[in-house]
Amino acid sequence: MKDKIIIFDTTLRDGEQSPGASLNVEQKIEIAGQLSRLGVDIIEAGVPISSPGDFEAVRRIAKEIRGPVIAGLARAMEKDIEACGKAIRPAKRGRIHTFIATSDIHLKYKLKKSREEVLEIAERSIKYARRFTDDVEFSAEDAGRSDFDYLCRIVEAAIKAGASTINIPDTVGYAVPSEFGLTIKGLMERVPNIHRAVLSVHCHNDLGLSTANSISAVMNGARQIECTINGIGERAGNCSLEEVVMILKTRQQFLKKYGIVLPEIDTAQIYKTSKLVSSLTGIPVQPNKAIVGSNAFAHEAGIHQDGVLKKSLTYEIMTPRSVGVPSSNLVLGKHSGRHAFSKKLAELGLKVGAGDVDSLFARFKELTDKKKTVFDEDIMALAEEKLSGKMEIFSLEYFHISSGSSVIPTATIKVNFSRAKKNAKFQEAAYGDGPVDAAYHAIDKIVAKALKWKTVPKLIDYSIRSVSGGKDAQGDVIVRANYAGVAFTGRGASTDIIEASIKSYLNVINKIAYAKSKKEKVISI
Ligand code: KIV
Ligand code: ZN
Repeated sequence: MKDKIIIFDTTLRDGEQSPGASLNVEQKIEIAGQLSRLGVDIIEAGVPISSPGDFEAVRRIAKEIRGPVIAGLARAMEKDIEACGKAIRPAKRGRIHTFIATSDIHLKYKLKKSREEVLEIAERSIKYARRFTDDVEFSAEDAGRSDFDYLCRIVEAAIKAGASTINIPDTVGYAVPSEFGLTIKGLMERVPNIHRAVLSVHCHNDLGLSTANSISAVMNGARQIECTINGIGERAGNCSLEEVVMILKTRQQFLKKYGIVLPEIDTAQIYKTSKLVSSLTGIPVQPNKAIVGSNAFAHEAGIHQDGVLKKSLTYEIMTPRSVGVPSSNLVLGKHSGRHAFSKKLAELGLKVGAGDVDSLFARFKELTDKKKTVFDEDIMALAEEKLSGKMEIFSLEYFHISSGSSVIPTATIKVNFSRAKKNAKFQEAAYGDGPVDAAYHAIDKIVAKALKWKTVPKLIDYSIRSVSGGKDAQGDVIVRANYAGVAFTGRGASTDIIEASIKSYLNVINKIAYAKSKKEKVISI
């Protein structure tokens, strides 16, 4: 259907370029499965040349996930395209997405090439990519700041060379909606062979306009939108999937005159997908985020509450149910059984094997001893620990902290080390500026001993928030740390904030150790 809006999800590629958001292969597969249930048309699964880990993730998603087209990103270089071609080979429908910058700024300072040279590289790369698949997408990086006549020329040449999708990225989020719309309209009018390709847009959010620019583009002829769940991505992020999809659905009457046919997204899966991506990447969703923020359907003012109770339409332009916000505020507690617990996992979009349900249920029961009511967020936090547990090398056995206003804070930490043959245990003590600092020093000592690391991760951020309400709420600690120039995010939750802090740092250590073992992120794109 020519006018159907194609949803190209790049959460696992551009989204993963968010600082600290590195995902392992299992986590990527988990998210890809949920994206498939959501009904996206294309999943951009990664950049196969960037590391063996990314290659493996794209290959496994291509092999295991059915439904969407599976795409990989490749610079306009033979070795990138070849790696991409190999990684997408198991897919029923695989796409190579190749790109090169077209703005004079990038040509002069980054590529140091002339317009003619870049045009020739683009043509050559597309032809090369066509050896691996018929489905080739070409992106003119920084199109938003490219000379329009040159953009028209390169788009025409790319289609002639065999690209069936042409992507116009606003790479640095510079465009404003009317201007970006005119660029798309101009391309539709000026490029003679444009009707042989799908015109796509990929907008970044540096000025907060990525969604508006994408909508303006489809009003002017674009038929593919590239976007990410929760709008995560490089710098200020990408156009958010849930926003564009809900605009297209909620404003379909208005948009009808642009000939747009709605994408086939199961919008009831949006909330689950948002939660899953947030918990696996460790990137929280701001409370006032459109569609998926915790306040998106909360009515505070008395007049509003009164209106909504009389008729929700007074203050709600879409229902929470339409995006899958659970209607029952079914909260679990001490007396909840396994059945209610499994139902809740499904409601939250967590696909957990039978064995894992048992162990998660046991953890849930432990939590109900410490906490009267267990909210969705608590369960997501438990599940996230479980999912990242698949790469758990160190797990906490116990900790002891001594701290106060007139003592030197000291910590003793004991961990299980799963890489040793007989599941060895390591114990270290250290002091620090505070109890968390002391605990982190003790963990650094353990890691140096167990894994022989010569350097320790450098903490760049530490944040704590309450997972839910109430005095007995769990603390959710997110730690970002740099190791060998790469940022890693760890997360840990507990009713004890020191324990949450220790778990989050162990989570970082586990991710680094896992990435080192898989030699992940060797080339950064
Ligand atoms: O922002 C951008 O230009 C990109 C391209 C690689 C599509 O992410
Ligand atoms: Zn991008």
